[in-house]
Amino acid sequence: MEIDLRSLEVRHAHDLLTSSIIPRPIAWVSSLSSGGETNLAPFSFFTGVQWNPPVLAFSVVNRADGTLKDTVVNIEQTREFVINLVSVELLEPMEMSARPIPHGEDERVVKGIHLIPSKTIKPRLIQEAKISFECVLERIVRVDEGANAGNLVLGRVQLMHVQDDLVIGGREVDWRGPNALGRLSGNRYCTIDSVVEGERN
Ligand SMILES: Cc1cc2nc3c(=O)[nH]c(=O)nc-3n(C[C@H](O)[C@H](O)[C@H](O)COP(=O)(O)O)c2cc1C
Repeated sequence: MEIDLRSLEVRHAHDLLTSSIIPRPIAWVSSLSSGGETNLAPFSFFTGVQWNPPVLAFSVVNRADGTLKDTVVNIEQTREFVINLVSVELLEPMEMSARPIPHGEDERVVKGIHLIPSKTIKPRLIQEAKISFECVLERIVRVDEGANAGNLVLGRVQLMHVQDDLVIGGREVDWRGPNALGRLSGNRYCTIDSVVEGERN
């Protein structure tokens, strides 16, 4: 079957892409409004860009009415953010933080997590996240304008936080340790239960 994604109704293309590009890690982003209120939101269009110097990227699509989501507004204004990784036990608060709340309103409504100070930037990190990255904005790429248009946010990593017991030989993170949650489509997620080894890396 060949599918011309461009000719489909918007949500249909969304469903095909999000059920094909799987599993996706989740960037749980903490940012600050210009008024100093913390905003949390998850984004699964998320990946690494380069490691020297380290840069990460995630994509935030505009709301259906064409307006920017709070995460983009905040990062444009304050130019700093934390990307926290999501483990299985954080599913509920992560989903809670995806619900829209008025801009500038604090995320204290998100239960089950604690925000603690970062070392190099102002936005706080999630204490319960096993891995977090303190980032400064490199640039935002506006791919299109209007409803559902993507804003690719690139961040330079200033500092990585990893829970001590997850680091093997001081060099690598044990893949089992973070109990990472992967996004499939809709409300479905997955965990890493087995690993397949190739011949070489
Ligand atoms: C697991 C998960 C992954 C998500 N991934 C994305 C994404 O990649 N891009 C996006 O624009 N929205 C994504 N969303 C929706 C946003 O989190 C949601 O629109 C949120 O309200 C945005 O918050 P903000 O306005 O505070 O930035 C995702 C939601 C969930 C639950």
